[in-house]
Amino acid sequence: MVKQSSTRKPQGFRYEEIADQVTQLIEQGTYRPGDRIPSVRQMSLQKEVSISSVLQAYLLLESRGVIEARPQSGYYVSRHGNLNLPEPEVSSPSLDPSRVNLHELVMMVMRDSLNPDLAQLGAAMPNLELLPTERMNRIMARLARTASRGMHRYQLPPGVEELRVQIAQRAVNCGCQFSPSDIVITSGGTEAIDLCLHAVCKPGDIVAIESPMYFGTLQIIEVQGLRALEIPTNPRDGISLGALQFAIEHNPIKAVVTISNFSNPHGSCIPDEKKKDLVELLERYDIPLIDNDVSGELYFTEKRPLTTKAYDKKGLVMLCSSFSKDISPSLRVGWVAPGRYKNEVEWLKFTLSAATATLPQMAIAEFLESGGYDHQLRRIRREYANNVVMLSQAVMRTFPAGTRVTRPSGGYVLWVQLPENVDSLELYSLALKGGITLTPGYLFSPSNHFYNFIRLNAAAWNLSIERALERLGGMVVELAGRS
Ligand SMILES: Cc1ncc(COP(=O)(O)O)c(C=O)c1O
Repeated sequence: MVKQSSTRKPQGFRYEEIADQVTQLIEQGTYRPGDRIPSVRQMSLQKEVSISSVLQAYLLLESRGVIEARPQSGYYVSRHGNLNLPEPEVSSPSLDPSRVNLHELVMMVMRDSLNPDLAQLGAAMPNLELLPTERMNRIMARLARTASRGMHRYQLPPGVEELRVQIAQRAVNCGCQFSPSDIVITSGGTEAIDLCLHAVCKPGDIVAIESPMYFGTLQIIEVQGLRALEIPTNPRDGISLGALQFAIEHNPIKAVVTISNFSNPHGSCIPDEKKKDLVELLERYDIPLIDNDVSGELYFTEKRPLTTKAYDKKGLVMLCSSFSKDISPSLRVGWVAPGRYKNEVEWLKFTLSAATATLPQMAIAEFLESGGYDHQLRRIRREYANNVVMLSQAVMRTFPAGTRVTRPSGGYVLWVQLPENVDSLELYSLALKGGITLTPGYLFSPSNHFYNFIRLNAAAWNLSIERALERLGGMVVELAGRS
């Protein structure tokens, strides 16, 4: 089994013992991410040790990222799940662009992700129990009862104005100065990305992408006949700017696609300063950046990270997002702020789907305006931060040595690197027979780069998921143990 950070040292210093005991309490779930741990004074009385020993223990845990001090308040369990777990390394994909051909595999995995008899660790479905379903149903029922005939006529892009006003107001929190007319409503984030790629590329063009990249975007690249150039990406702070610049200098790149806040599958977040450098780099070469911010609101830190759009001076950033992860994936409401490509995107939206259904747009606008969304977000951020830590700890308890796990600072997916001799498709078949679905790493690269990786959905954490994870760990141990 993977070595735990709580390895006991009975012969060690008193402060190390205390640090180990606190770590163990966190690992077994007594203290959860964001919980306050006993004060220095309480702990010193309880353990009958000096204040300075407890302080030393807490400093040690702070330096390991297990707890964090909050001025005037005390010590809290870190929300980043920052327990000493090994992380996957920076990816090192092929230097050549590839055609994408993943649709059969994607459709197989997606079909399994709808099977209610399987433990769902596969699709990046939000936890349905945490969505504001009843509230949205009530709003939609009232809107449907009172809707005028006008609501049923053909609508044109850019979409319902009340919703665009709400989106523009919220965007101030992530550094954007939008007018409602800067925004086009789409049918989910998927359509937003599709329209953006359509607006700036033609078949055969090369698009630079983070590696690994969410397979939905790879599917769009496949359908549009584009070629994907995978750029090495760090599981913590995202795309390598040096590698991207090298790629730009050696290839006619027509667009770059990133998920700069809580990427899927890495969970990485490009620090704000690096976002600025990324935008400036692309401005030098006049290349559009399509940045997918669907999980931007699901941060575990104190503050929302900014978006790349906050640094956009030339209108080259096309910021895409949706309400699928935090309100409802089935209402199919997303949006894009396409910058200088707004006319093309609006025209494409009109041509390809006329408009997004009006009622869901109105319902989401009302929910946002009522303040319900902020309340909803606070709740799911807390739950997801906790569930990500619980799932990663369970992986480290049950998977064999050689396993590595990302430490997302937002979102709800975990990217797990398995020992080199474990093939994720073989594991997928074995897991299905055992009643579990997961997403094999193959789906996240057009060049089969991640054969020994899997993505796990950490949106829900309960006893049956814990048991499924333990069974899955046993299967990985079995596959890793073969010669
Ligand atoms: C990174 C990312 N982008 C886009 C989507 C799809 O968004 P939507 O359902 O709004 O089309 C997903 C869904 O899993 C996703 O994870």
